[in-house]
Amino acid sequence: MLDEKVLIIENSLIAADTYRMVLQGEITEEFKPGQFVNLEIEGYTLRRPISISSFDKQNKTFTLLYKVLGEGTQKMAEMEPGQKIKALGALGNGFPIEKAASAVLIGGGAGTGPLVQTAKELKDQGTEVKVVLGFPTKADVYGEEDFEKLGITPYVSTDDGTYGFKGNAIDLIKAEGITGEIAYACGPKRMLMAVEDTFERGYISLDIRMACGMGACMACVCKDKEDKDKYYRVCKEGPVFKIGQVEI
Ligand SMILES: Cc1cc2nc3c(=O)[nH]c(=O)nc-3n(C[C@H](O)[C@H](O)[C@H](O)COP(=O)(O)OP(=O)(O)OC[C@H]3O[C@@H](n4cnc5c(N)ncnc54)[C@H](O)[C@@H]3O)c2cc1C
Ligand code: FES
Repeated sequence: MLDEKVLIIENSLIAADTYRMVLQGEITEEFKPGQFVNLEIEGYTLRRPISISSFDKQNKTFTLLYKVLGEGTQKMAEMEPGQKIKALGALGNGFPIEKAASAVLIGGGAGTGPLVQTAKELKDQGTEVKVVLGFPTKADVYGEEDFEKLGITPYVSTDDGTYGFKGNAIDLIKAEGITGEIAYACGPKRMLMAVEDTFERGYISLDIRMACGMGACMACVCKDKEDKDKYYRVCKEGPVFKIGQVEI
């Protein structure tokens, strides 16, 4: 794990309040799909966790796709190429790339990011990959080009029907009869619960409020679904858990 001042190469608006930040640094060396970095933002003690969307170990670059929610992410959005930002990582366990003939990757809003590298690595090993993305409205839609670069055209839904299928990502999966041997999902709780009702095998990535991001403070615990005395630190034992493993 490294705590490094990484160089911002790109920081561009890609959808409503949503940015693509491309960074470069040695930290990239150990990245796995579905892991995250904890970013130090000037003026704030607590770092902000953001999933690693994709990475290129040869060029030591990595991409974050992030939505501005509050002051920290707003400050990130104001940063410019050439500036540096301190990133601690790689953190968390990441998505295991399991052998499967087909996989369905489901992203809800800000949960789209970590699915890009996951899709790449599944496709590289010969798995047929289907990607389903859900957003509130057309202005929020992003990430299509990241998957298209991998030769995957995502299915997209919007709650209000202003772009793609009208409804949520799970409605879309059901309407189109999209199936796969394994599922990988990241997004809001409600979506993850629906994923667990729909797929038996696979992984979900939890997004909950964190503090240290590295297993030291217990601010991010969740409970085992079966054993009520067993807890996991989402930042350390997660953020990725097996379908059915934890209480969402
Ligand atoms: C493991 C992990 C990976 C993440 N990956 C991404 C990503 O790839 N892209 C992305 O856009 N965001 C991601 N997030 C969420 C991101 O960390 C928060 O949006 C960010 O920390 C908010 O910081 P802020 O200073 O802008 O907002 P704050 O001022 O801290 O909060 C603004 C509002 O956002 C809410 N909020 C803060 N943190 C979270 C959170 N973790 N989940 C839900 N609501 C929150 C607050 O309750 C408040 O209402 C991830 C979070 C985790 C835990
Ligand atoms: S955020 Fe400190 S233990 Fe997870």
